[in-house]
Amino acid sequence: MNDIDQPTFPSSRRDFLKTSALVGVAASFGVAPRVMGASTPKARPRVFAGPIAISSRNGQQTVLKAIELIGAGADALDAVVAGVNLVEEDPEDTSVGYGGLPNALGVVQLDAAVMHGPTCRAGSVGCIEGIKYPSKVAKLVLERTDHVNLVGKGAQDFAVMHGFPIENLLTEKARLEWVNWRENMSTQDDYLPKHKPESTGIGEIAAPIKRHWGTIHCSAIDLAGNISCVTTTSGMAFKVPGRIGDSPIIGAGLYCDNTVGAAGSTGRGEANIENLASFLIVERMRAGDSPEAACLFACQRIADHTKLARLLDAKGRPNFNVQFYALNIKGEVGGAEILGGNGTFAAATPEGGRLVELAYLYKA
Ligand code: GLY
Repeated sequence: MNDIDQPTFPSSRRDFLKTSALVGVAASFGVAPRVMGASTPKARPRVFAGPIAISSRNGQQTVLKAIELIGAGADALDAVVAGVNLVEEDPEDTSVGYGGLPNALGVVQLDAAVMHGPTCRAGSVGCIEGIKYPSKVAKLVLERTDHVNLVGKGAQDFAVMHGFPIENLLTEKARLEWVNWRENMSTQDDYLPKHKPESTGIGEIAAPIKRHWGTIHCSAIDLAGNISCVTTTSGMAFKVPGRIGDSPIIGAGLYCDNTVGAAGSTGRGEANIENLASFLIVERMRAGDSPEAACLFACQRIADHTKLARLLDAKGRPNFNVQFYALNIKGEVGGAEILGGNGTFAAATPEGGRLVELAYLYKA
C-alpha cells in the first residue's frame, strides 16, 4: 500500500493549515516529475513529488514537526532530527532517549544515526550515555568530524566538547521496570521481588518476559527534493552492556540515496544488522520496487536467513518482529513488518498527518 489512506492524527490538519508558510508548499505537492539540474551526481533522472515525512508509529508529532520545518525551508536532515528530538526528550516513550529502558546494569545507553542524501554523508553514535539527544550528536559526527561512527565514552566526550550536558536519563518509570525485570529473571540469584513470608519460588517467571525493541525512525524529502533520515533508540531493553543495535549501523537502521529514496527500521536489530536491510530496501527501490514491496522483500530476506531454533516459532517463522519504513523520490511511501495485521506508521505532507497500514509477511 503506498497511499496515505488512514485517518488524520488528531489536530494535525488544523496545525498544518494554520502555518501560513505551508500554503505554498501544499500547492506544489504532487507536481509533475522534473529532472534535476546538471549538478545532480547521477545520470538517473530524479522525480520530485513534494515534501513528505514518514516515521514509525511513535513519531506522529515527529512527522508533523519535520514537515512544518520543511515548509519553512529547512533541509530534510535538520527537519527529521528536530522531529525525533521531540521523542528523545519525551519521558513517556521508553524506547528512545530520555526515559528509555536501560541495559542489564540499569544504565541507559543510546544509539542514533543520520544520513544526508545530498552529500551522501552519514554520522552515528553508539552506546552513548548521559546525552539526551543522541541524534543531534550523530548529526555533529557527520558535520564536524571526518568519521562516521563514534561509540561509548568517545561519543560522550565529543558531545560534551560541543556543549551537551551530561544528564541522568533514567526516569523513575524506567528504573522501576528495570528493577522488576532484574528481580524476576531468576530464582538462582539473590535479588528478590516483593514477596510474602510464606512465598516460595521467589523470582520465578510466571510468563516469558516480553523484550522491547522500540525505536524511532524518520525519513523526509524537503522542498529542494533532497532526502535525509534519522534513527534513534535506547535499544533492546535490558541488553548486555555495550550492545549496539541496528540503529547506528548505516545500511541497517537506516539508509538513503538522494536519487532513489530512504528506508529505516524498528524492531529486533540483530536480524536487521545481519541482513543490512535498509540498504537492501533502497537498492530494491532503485531496481523498481515500490517502497512497500521493497520492505516486504527485506522481511522475507530476514525470514529466509533466520535459522536458529530459538528464533523460530512452531511453524518455522521468526518469533520476533522487525518493521521497515520507506519512501521514494516520487513521494510514494510504504512499510512492512514480519509479523503483522494491525501495524501502522506515520506520514505527513503539507496537507496533514496520517497513519498508514504496514504490510506484513505473516499474520501475528
Ligand atoms: N532496532 C533497535 C535495536 O535493536 O536496538
